Amino acid sequence: MINIPKGTKDVLPSDSYKWQYVEKVARDLAGLFNAKEIRTPTFEHTELFARGVGDTTDIVTKEMYTFLDKGNRSITLKPEGTAGTGRAFIENGLISGALPAKMFYITPAFRYERPQAGRLREFHQFGLETFGASGADADAETIMLADSLLKKLGLKVKLYINSIGCPTCRAKYNQALKDFFGSHLEELCFDCKARYEKNPLRLLDCKEETCKNINADAPSILDYLCDDCSAHFETLKEYLALAGIAYEINPRIVRGLDYYTRTVFEFVSDNIGAQGTVCGGGRYDGLIKQLGGNDCPAVGFAVGIERLLMVMEATGVEIPKPAPVKVYLAGMNEESRKQAFAIACKLRENGVLAETDHMNRSIKAQFKYADKLGAEYVAVIGESELLENAFNVKNMQTGESEKVAFAQAVEYFSK
Ligand code: HAM
Repeated sequence: MINIPKGTKDVLPSDSYKWQYVEKVARDLAGLFNAKEIRTPTFEHTELFARGVGDTTDIVTKEMYTFLDKGNRSITLKPEGTAGTGRAFIENGLISGALPAKMFYITPAFRYERPQAGRLREFHQFGLETFGASGADADAETIMLADSLLKKLGLKVKLYINSIGCPTCRAKYNQALKDFFGSHLEELCFDCKARYEKNPLRLLDCKEETCKNINADAPSILDYLCDDCSAHFETLKEYLALAGIAYEINPRIVRGLDYYTRTVFEFVSDNIGAQGTVCGGGRYDGLIKQLGGNDCPAVGFAVGIERLLMVMEATGVEIPKPAPVKVYLAGMNEESRKQAFAIACKLRENGVLAETDHMNRSIKAQFKYADKLGAEYVAVIGESELLENAFNVKNMQTGESEKVAFAQAVEYFSK
């Protein structure tokens, strides 16, 4: 027996309706915000993520599924959706089309992480990216879509926002971080020593206890924002107030990807343990240029669908179940099975969920199966029914039966 790879999950037929529900709510909401779906490949050239996500991030240095294909090209399974969407936006000339351009995706993503509750090696994201708008109103709208989605799905989460500035003010902040962490170098973990040299902002993202303790006293980015970044952050707060969205400012939020500029945000649930961040995003004004496009501001977010479902389950949010089988047509012999088959065809053509026997089972076994399916009605066809062109239809809930002519079946079960 071959088992499923570590960190991956099957979505079984009995559970897939939950995914379909979340995806439908997300798609409908994205539509209301005038975003259209984009689908990009599951794998891209490794270079895209090295350049886009950033080669000092954990994602790029440790977590990518990278391999050489048979043509000796370095290929990587997408660890997230933004870089591929940005590439497609440039490569397909959308960058010269109508802006802002809003697009959403539902995609698998792959990260070689240590699996635990809420952390998988293959997971799924619903994400939104808006290209072309630099104002904080676009950031607020992005946050609003995420907020509306989480609320519609019944999640109670907290929104944390921060600004990590532009390359100019970030350089000053990085220096301040170096000054601060310089006197703690010996105490930092192995990874943080490298982060100190390459990208001090990443030091704030460390999950090691000792580093976290040191981080608590580190300088705040908000004290280093330039006037423009500061004004942008103030405008964001105004727009969030207009949208009626509650938030908390958390200057420690820096995000695990390098492309962010100015606004960053996370929605966190405290119902599912350590991996409580259900949604993360922010502005990334430098990415499109870095990937070879013109200067083009952008902002977006992604939610982890597995985590959404975990929170919904943990907090008892009811997900509407799909309609059960309307009618199970039981046949007693070959002729009546054929009749059952023909009536089932007619019913399905008319939008009625009908089922018949495909296992040559006894009537008793067919009733049992219909019961397992949760069928609303069972209609038995035997020799006398064939003669009368009518069957007895049993309402499985009330136990009552009614005679229905075959010719009336569509009408009867459509009601
Ligand atoms: P991220 O924070 O790396 O951001 O991921 C977004 C969400 O994906 C997380 O909040 C979490 O719910 C889910 N997620 C991440 N890693 C895992 C995992 N190993 N297992 C299960 N769920 C996971 C991004 O990916 C950015 N591309 C978001 C973005 C879009 N920023 C701008 N536009």
